[in-house]
Amino acid sequence: MQIEKTVALVTGANRGIGKAFVETLRNAGVKKIYAAARDVASLAELTAGDSGRTVALELDVTDAKQVRAAAKQAQDVTLLVNNAGVAFFRGFISADDIEGARREMDVNYFGTLEMSRVFAPILKSNGGGAVINLASIASHVNFPILGPYSASKAAVHSLTQGIRAELSSQGTQVIGVYPGPVDTDMAKDFDAPKVPPAQIAEAALKALAEGTEDVYPDPMAVELHGNLLHDPKAVEKHVGEMRPE
Ligand SMILES: NC(=O)c1ccc[n+]([C@@H]2O[C@H](COP(=O)([O-])OP(=O)(O)OC[C@H]3O[C@@H](n4cnc5c(N)ncnc54)[C@H](OP(=O)(O)O)[C@@H]3O)[C@@H](O)[C@H]2O)c1
Repeated sequence: MQIEKTVALVTGANRGIGKAFVETLRNAGVKKIYAAARDVASLAELTAGDSGRTVALELDVTDAKQVRAAAKQAQDVTLLVNNAGVAFFRGFISADDIEGARREMDVNYFGTLEMSRVFAPILKSNGGGAVINLASIASHVNFPILGPYSASKAAVHSLTQGIRAELSSQGTQVIGVYPGPVDTDMAKDFDAPKVPPAQIAEAALKALAEGTEDVYPDPMAVELHGNLLHDPKAVEKHVGEMRPE
């Protein structure tokens, strides 16, 4: 993809990795960006001074009506970044109920699925384009400290593989991004070394340019992925030592 011809849409663009995607895409010279967020007021600072190129869009990815309205407005999209996500740091068994687990599936998996389905024909009519899905290294091994979140990200990984195959005939490039801990609100209570959110966006855009499908954008992700290929049971046991309260 030529970045100067790219029209991107980033979900969850008001903070964290989503905001870093908007800034990184702009620095790279993107033609236009739809910065999507549940509360458009939270995008004011990000869009200020770049209003011609950065367009604020109201979008809750779990609201099918809003997804369709966004698609109606953003018919020129060539790059969809499915970034919006939630994590509750709860266990499967120790959590009081399964509402958090349902919400994680709803936003992380069904939100990504809905966006991908609705934007696939738009990407096709604009020449193929690309989809970048924010999965996690927790897509590949369950972290009991955020067990249900890991399950939702495993679903995102599977979805990424499936839509890559389905959309190959229309020439859509599909990239999965599998970060370790990133320095955002989501990981603020997770005690581990974290990389800045811009590192994730930069690695994903490099993959887009180079045609890489799976992105391990930080040292922990690289190490864990390598260990998983070598000895998956040892990794499962190691991360299994981090249990929820
Ligand atoms: N941080 C990490 O360590 C890490 C590691 C691996 C993968 N990831 C993934 O990277 C992505 C971004 O995470 P982050 O660290 O930037 O998290 P974050 O700082 O908590 O930001 C989450 C973003 O998602 C948005 N969002 C939540 N629910 C939404 C919904 N229903 N519809 C639309 N937007 C919604 C939030 O909007 P509001 O402001 O309205 O809540 C916010 O913009 C997520 O998919 C996450 O799972 C993060």
